[in-house]
Amino acid sequence: MDAFIHISQPTGVEFSRSQPIKSYAFNNFKGKIYMTHITYVEASGEQITVDLQEGWSLMQGATTNGVEGIIGECGGSCACATCHCYVDEARLGDLPAASETELAMLAHVAAERKPNSRLACQLKAGPKLEGLIVHLPETQE
Ligand code: FES
Repeated sequence: MDAFIHISQPTGVEFSRSQPIKSYAFNNFKGKIYMTHITYVEASGEQITVDLQEGWSLMQGATTNGVEGIIGECGGSCACATCHCYVDEARLGDLPAASETELAMLAHVAAERKPNSRLACQLKAGPKLEGLIVHLPETQE
């Protein structure tokens, strides 16, 4: 006989399943963590590909994985411009539009600002960014 499990979600949504528990673990799409592969290309040409949990910013992914070309001095509050990056131009359409605050901060980046310049702290990992390549400038300060 299959195991029967009944789950009360914190959201108040309840559902029941009549499946073997092992299968449930693989079918629980609500509990699945989506990982996004992001490749950072340092100014030196070194490439570092990391898996980022959905919702993490590209700045967090860089600073927690030893990517030296991003500093992230303000911790991601869009107030320092030390997370400047150049996004693969072919993927610009996959990104959310830059906010007014981000556009204002991009005026203060240390390296050349280009049409594909973005602040890595404002870009969040998720399915639309899968496989994204970001190039890092020579300097952030
Ligand atoms: S980390 Fe400061 S603006 Fe992005």
